Amino acid sequence: MNSEALSSSSASGQNDRYHGVAQLLHWLMALMIITMVVIGLFHEGWTDEVKGVTMRLHKSLGITVFALVLIRLGWRLTHKPPPYTPPLPAWQKTLATAVHWLFYALMIGLPIGGYLMSSGGSRPMLWFGVELPKVPIERESALWEMAHQGHSWGGYVMAGLIVLHITAAAYHLVSGFDNTVERMMPGGSSD
Ligand code: HEM
Ligand code: HEM
Repeated sequence: MNSEALSSSSASGQNDRYHGVAQLLHWLMALMIITMVVIGLFHEGWTDEVKGVTMRLHKSLGITVFALVLIRLGWRLTHKPPPYTPPLPAWQKTLATAVHWLFYALMIGLPIGGYLMSSGGSRPMLWFGVELPKVPIERESALWEMAHQGHSWGGYVMAGLIVLHITAAAYHLVSGFDNTVERMMPGGSSD
């Protein structure tokens, strides 16, 4: 859809973008999660020193994501997303909604799995240098194995969904058919 049509939907008084709070949380967390996925997937190939620093960052960012996603979920459940203009085909809307809720599940589940897994390790649980209590869990116990496997598979699913999500956003942006991407960008009316 062209920009004239987009601004006319603002002029109609309809809220056509995500609220600034939702946008801020989205972009901040996207940056954090992409950093974490890259570290998670590639750290094995790095030197011990780089691995140590980046994995400490991975854990600190992951714990922060957990705190932020609780706020974000609360916001999402109490604020209706802006409409797609023109409306998306039903399959695209269903797919987008499913991916968004899977993201929420992973943003909650991955930090829990990671925390459980790291609690079974010998290193202290540090959040940007602040020591946090560990969960009592035996390394290689059934629960620890579940957390480890779940974190690995969840991490791969997260990486795959990010690729799908970015591809979809790029398609909507380039095709210019609708306001899908503009809804997550600053500017215009958002309240
Ligand atoms: C949204 C949050 C998180 C994301 C997206 C994420 C993503 C990932 C990914 C993709 C991997 C690589 C998986 C593999 O190759 O098997 C990984 C590994 C790892 N993550 Fe996370 N993670 C998150 C949170 C956390 C947290 C909160 C902790 C700990 C407090 C943590 C600790 C670890 C550890 C220790 C590994 C290495 C596991 C191994 O080498 O076997 N992660 N993470
Ligand atoms: C890497 C982690 C990312 C996660 C976990 C994520 C998650 C989400 C979620 C859950 C929504 C729904 C709105 C909400 O509830 O906040 C959303 C919407 C959106 N995201 Fe992302 N996102 C990520 C990265 C990106 C990136 C890199 C882009 C841009 C290329 C992007 C573009 C969009 C757009 C355009 C929307 C609005 C689309 C719609 O409502 O259908 N996202 N994202």
